[in-house]
Amino acid sequence: MPAFWFFLSIFLLCLSYVSTAAEPVTCSGIVPMKYRYDKISIADFGGVGDGVTVNTKAFRAAIYRIQHLHRRGGTLLYIPPGVYLTESFNLTSHMTLYLARGAVIKATQDTRNWPLIAPLPSYGRGRERPGGRYVSFIHGDGVHDVVITGENGTIDGQGDVWWNMWRQRTLQFTRPNLIEFINSKNIIISNVIFQNSPFWNIHPVYSSNIVVRYVTILAPADSPNTDGIDPDSSSNVCIEDSYISTGDDLVAVKSGWDEYGIAYGRPSSDITIRRIRGSSPFSGIAIGSETSGGVENVFAEHINLYNMGVGIHIKTNIGRGGFIRNITVSNVFMEKARKGIKIAGDVGDHPDDKFNPNALPVVKGITLTDIWGIQVLQAGLIQGIKNSPFTGICLSNINLHGMTATTRTPPWKCSDVSGAAHLVSPIQCSELTGAQHATSCSNY
Ligand SMILES: *[C@@H]1O[C@H](CO)[C@@H](O)[C@H](O)[C@H]1NC(C)=O
Ligand SMILES: *[C@@H]1O[C@H](CO)[C@@H](O)[C@H](O)[C@H]1NC(C)=O
Ligand SMILES: *[C@@H]1O[C@H](CO)[C@@H](O)[C@H](O)[C@H]1NC(C)=O
Repeated sequence: MPAFWFFLSIFLLCLSYVSTAAEPVTCSGIVPMKYRYDKISIADFGGVGDGVTVNTKAFRAAIYRIQHLHRRGGTLLYIPPGVYLTESFNLTSHMTLYLARGAVIKATQDTRNWPLIAPLPSYGRGRERPGGRYVSFIHGDGVHDVVITGENGTIDGQGDVWWNMWRQRTLQFTRPNLIEFINSKNIIISNVIFQNSPFWNIHPVYSSNIVVRYVTILAPADSPNTDGIDPDSSSNVCIEDSYISTGDDLVAVKSGWDEYGIAYGRPSSDITIRRIRGSSPFSGIAIGSETSGGVENVFAEHINLYNMGVGIHIKTNIGRGGFIRNITVSNVFMEKARKGIKIAGDVGDHPDDKFNPNALPVVKGITLTDIWGIQVLQAGLIQGIKNSPFTGICLSNINLHGMTATTRTPPWKCSDVSGAAHLVSPIQCSELTGAQHATSCSNY
């Protein structure tokens, strides 16, 4: 009965088409979205959205109420339309911070009274200045079951005063992140716009089960260190369906630096990055350069980049130690980039001169497939470390084409690297062409 099989297969084909069309593949199921029956509004705590009133007391009182009344199923804190100026505040477990359409939570620019907290042990000091660091604008320490969501309201860091202090070299301590979660788990951040962060935008550190999706992250291209999302010594992180345009890396996976990161020894692992679009003078998808606790099992796909510094950037340094392994990046399209791909062992600064020059990072098992680019000045630069060559570097189906035919830069530059290349245009580095790609690409 060939007709039966014919119709069955058509039916199955339609079914699979319908199901994939209706539900694109997602990792967001690692933290289920919570409905909260108990709801309060910032207005009930004296919050005024006039853009002038400082609402610190209202935010702290509302969150104190959530923490101490701990209603079954947690509590939703509603932020109505309006501009709510406030100093930094701490989140608590079992809460949803819900921003209505037109709601803006705006950081004050009082840099003098901004609270300080201890440096992260895996950094040993602030990331940019020795000593403590300014607490993030919205902070979660040791919390779980937290959702930040709504109808695409805005969290605005008003970072320009901080950027100017950085430019004028008058910063005393490391600038605040816009949002940081430390030692936290089961966090969802979705449907929010983040803008003008003083420093990194979203920083989960020593945390697990983190979902960031449907967010927009904006900062001027010349704003210093305004990374988009930086999972740091964190595991089970899902970043999807977002637009990020900032002054530094769009997504950068980290795990502490040098002797402090090695001693702390907490890797970042199991990180999915999917359907991200954006622009930056620095990197699109980055690993590092702070990778001393190790980074493994990173999977990034369907990435769309425009006006980039480096499309895909894996970076570490002598003294970092740690490892970067089992990294897969596929289905990337980029238009206008200085470099398409860069994997290098000489990137990033050191916390102090106590780093161990014999702590060489191990970079192994990097698979890059289906990468397309136009107006890419240089296709690739892969430079391992002499006494710790990068291995299992696998490139396949890569087409990165230049701005003009007269560019003097060679399309690829490779050293201290082994692995394989298959269907790479323009022609790849000879270090990768000789190998048998079947074996080196299936290491991981
Ligand atoms: C917020 O949390 C930090 C870090 O846990 C703590 O040092 C600080 O005192 C808290 N701030 C307030 C206002 O509770
Ligand atoms: C909010 O923004 C996201 C991401 O851009 C978008 O997918 C979603 O439809 C928007 N939601 C609303 C309620 O406007
Ligand atoms: C490598 O990472 C992928 C995620 O990209 C994961 O599914 C796989 O299990 C990892 N392989 C090993 C050997 O850990």
